Amino acid sequence: MATETTARPNGLGQSPEWRGKSPMDPPRKKPPRRKDDRVILQFDYDCFYAQVFENKNPALKKFPVGVKQKNCLATCNYNARALGLKKLMTVSEAKRACPELVLVDGEDLTPFRDTSKILFNFFKSHSWNHKVERLGFDEVFMDVTDIVEYNMFCLNRASLSNSFFCLSKEDPERGFNCDLTSIAGCVEGTASSDLDVESPAYLRLLLGSHLAQYLRLKIEEQFGYTSTCGISTNKVLSKLVGGRNKPRNQTTLLALSDDAVIDFMDCYPLRKIPGLGFKTAHVLGSHVSSQDNEATEAGTEEPPVTAHDVRLHPGISPGTIESLLVGPGAERGVGVRIWGLLHGVDPSEIKEASGVPTQISIEDTYPKGLATMALVLEELHKLSCSLIKRMRVDLLVPDENAEVPGAQKWMARPRTLRLTMRSWGALNPTQSHNSGRVSRSGTLPSLIFDLKDDMGHIAERLVTEALLPLLRRLQPEKGQRWNLQLINICVANMVVGAAEDKTGVGRDIAAMLKRQDEVLRPFQVISDPEGELEEELEDSDLELEGVGADDMSWETIGNVPCPQCGHSIPPFAVLAHNRYHELEE
Ligand code: TTP
Ligand code: MG
Repeated sequence: MATETTARPNGLGQSPEWRGKSPMDPPRKKPPRRKDDRVILQFDYDCFYAQVFENKNPALKKFPVGVKQKNCLATCNYNARALGLKKLMTVSEAKRACPELVLVDGEDLTPFRDTSKILFNFFKSHSWNHKVERLGFDEVFMDVTDIVEYNMFCLNRASLSNSFFCLSKEDPERGFNCDLTSIAGCVEGTASSDLDVESPAYLRLLLGSHLAQYLRLKIEEQFGYTSTCGISTNKVLSKLVGGRNKPRNQTTLLALSDDAVIDFMDCYPLRKIPGLGFKTAHVLGSHVSSQDNEATEAGTEEPPVTAHDVRLHPGISPGTIESLLVGPGAERGVGVRIWGLLHGVDPSEIKEASGVPTQISIEDTYPKGLATMALVLEELHKLSCSLIKRMRVDLLVPDENAEVPGAQKWMARPRTLRLTMRSWGALNPTQSHNSGRVSRSGTLPSLIFDLKDDMGHIAERLVTEALLPLLRRLQPEKGQRWNLQLINICVANMVVGAAEDKTGVGRDIAAMLKRQDEVLRPFQVISDPEGELEEELEDSDLELEGVGADDMSWETIGNVPCPQCGHSIPPFAVLAHNRYHELEE
């Protein structure tokens, strides 16, 4: 049995009076300051990869569907989940549990990426403050405080059941009708007497819930994707409450006081709290459990450590959390941040969507190895074609000033081309036992921006004029053979609005107006004024800097294979991925 100080709460709805009043409880510690003047929506598409397949082939909707990557289910639809299947199950386990399972191959991420982009653009087009952030392929955070406040101002309190929600300040007819006598969708949290529209905190969430419902129904109607949404005052609360009612649903957290928010947070096991991280959850959990072990009866199984356990533990404070987590790479102020999260306090901002990816990379793996130059060249050509196609999708925007209708222009031009390879054999003597990645970079030739030329022809020229010279610098030693397992080609160092002059330093004035300094800052991946970069780049240096909200690819350089399921996981997703495996146990 756990000691009094770490006893489990009853869950939600626990009386606020309970806290700090039991004679066995430690003195109440000061909770962090909470800000509740924002409205944050967190959207998560239901069984995302499976929905992409279902929308392509609606006949699948009737069946249990599993999306296979290597020997695992990356996800499965809700028909399959009703039959007991789970994300990240092995294929053989899934087939045993559900022999009628329809398996589809999810190795090619292109359709998921493209759909994710389309849906993200939909949310962006409804944002006023541009605070729309994508996490991975299927989650979107939106700060809608400004839209909600405008609607608070316009609200006609005399006819709440017949309200109109404005979606544009300029066009008063753009919007939707709604009934503001109640929250749209499900509600979580501790009810209080404040639930009327005279309470600004309640009114914000009420309006936020109706906006969330409108956006969810729109993406379903227009694109065929169902989603789940959490509505609250910060990222951590929105994400947690969004998970309460899945799929095709939404939940608003009505927690209007510190105590109500703490009640909501208290039942969560540490590893389920977003922003805590796997290592932090482990360190805090072990610290709390080890101190309680003396009071734990032998042979009893320990339940997972919760936010409540840590929050009320006598040995835990922001200072002790900071000192427990100290070490190389530790973030400054981590103690205060985590102390905040345990109380449902999360001041982190939703990042503004820039619309420009930090880099675009295409890669493929070759489990049997590429052993001849001819094969390598063939693959380079294929990858170049995909790269050009993706650059055109991601970087071209309509050119409003052009005389020809439908003309497009580059909103940003990458300046650097990088070729990366991984070989199980030797690329050169110093790497004889190295199976890591090696890269060479140079200037991206401007021929790639020619919109009149055919993509296949541009790809051919890119291979001969730019990739082959980079490849020569990675040439195996005499007498050794290629044995390439992976090739990645990547364009980076985006210059926003660079015009079509020879130097690439000319600027498109219209694009310049788009806060260029701000937009460019995250994209200065490496300084390469002469385009003479030849050194070998460590995986992490370039790529980690380059990962941004618009480039949350699951296949960028620096991915690590998961030892449990073999998935290739980008560094930013490793913790979340580990957590998934843990949840399965
Ligand atoms: P999730 O949102 O975690 O899962 P989901 O959308 O399939 O299901 P839910 O209805 O519960 O939200 O992840 C989004 C997609 O990311 C998912 O469809 C498959 C993919 N994915 C992986 O490829 N590997 C992973 O480890 C995880 C967690 C997800
Ligand atoms: Mg999802």
